[in-house]
Amino acid sequence: MQRNYEIVDRIERTRNLDRESLELLLTTEDGALREYLAAKARETAQRIYGNCVYIRGLIEFTNYCKNDCYYCGIRRSNGCAERYRLSEEEILNCCKNGYELGFRTFVLQGGEDGFYTDERICEMVSEIKRRYPDCAVTLSIGERERKSYEAFFKAGADRYLLRHETADEAHYKKLHPEEMSFQHRMQCLAELKEIGYQTGCGFMVGSPYQTFDTLYEDLQFIRELQPEMVGIGPFIPQKDTPFGKMQAGTMEQTLRLLSIIRLLHPSVLLPATTALGTIHPKGRELGILAGANVVMPNLSPVAVREKYKLYDNKICTGDEAAECRYCMERRMESIGYQVAVNRGDFKNN
Ligand code: 5AD
Ligand code: FES
Repeated sequence: MQRNYEIVDRIERTRNLDRESLELLLTTEDGALREYLAAKARETAQRIYGNCVYIRGLIEFTNYCKNDCYYCGIRRSNGCAERYRLSEEEILNCCKNGYELGFRTFVLQGGEDGFYTDERICEMVSEIKRRYPDCAVTLSIGERERKSYEAFFKAGADRYLLRHETADEAHYKKLHPEEMSFQHRMQCLAELKEIGYQTGCGFMVGSPYQTFDTLYEDLQFIRELQPEMVGIGPFIPQKDTPFGKMQAGTMEQTLRLLSIIRLLHPSVLLPATTALGTIHPKGRELGILAGANVVMPNLSPVAVREKYKLYDNKICTGDEAAECRYCMERRMESIGYQVAVNRGDFKNN
């Protein structure tokens, strides 16, 4: 018993863990140990970020995608997905709405859509930064070449999210078709870091063929990359994809991994994701209590939300941005946290 508590203390002290400790922490049925892990992670987050939760306004601006990832509802082969693109004007309207609601970070997320050329993205980013110089702009638009990333950065983009999905090449091949390259994805992440973005990687918890070994690789990868952000959430099957009948990841595993990541990398910006809120009505609150410190309410126009369905049963698709914003505030206050009206940058620790 005592020994197991020491595992948690050792992660905190060494900012590392071994393969066996990971498996133990992910499989233990000792409720006191689970609570000890969550409490340590929560205290770590509070030491650095206080009882503030950062909010990011998520704008899902296109669901066209040239990729065909087996898990994702907006993969190009999914003929059931009704495709849409937001115009620059619509995107700027989302920002206006969001700014009035207290958002100081806008996350532009979309599939890998060739319609949005580097020029169009740069134009959009610089216009948002011109209108809202006190806001951060985060891009989450997949793999591009270094030149493009440099151009976006020059245009004013502050942060970039690109989940690595899995740090194990063989596992990566089971989640993606042949034409997608693990090497290129890893190269993109290295370049984003070099260019100077606050960079986010991440993975799904309980994705098909994930093992303790691949998860161990994911955690070691995070230790090496030292990303400013890490996005993790449960895998949730989407019925029109090749993985439509696979098992979903669990809330419990997601919470434990959130805590472990917080202890490995204390100052990381770590969202309690929409996917976590989808598999459990209190998922996001429990995520914060397990050491997460960011939430990302949706700012997309209600008319398109239903169409940005990476997975089934996604929450908040019928709610206006303002409803989500205040719902989130109430949810965070219910567990003793305040939503912060600021950019919510990474704090070096
Ligand atoms: N379940 C959970 N998360 C998913 N993502 C894509 N499809 C699913 C799914 N079925 C995640 C991927 C991607 C991010 C934008 O959403 O990790 O990087
Ligand atoms: Fe969207 Fe609660 S956060 S309705």
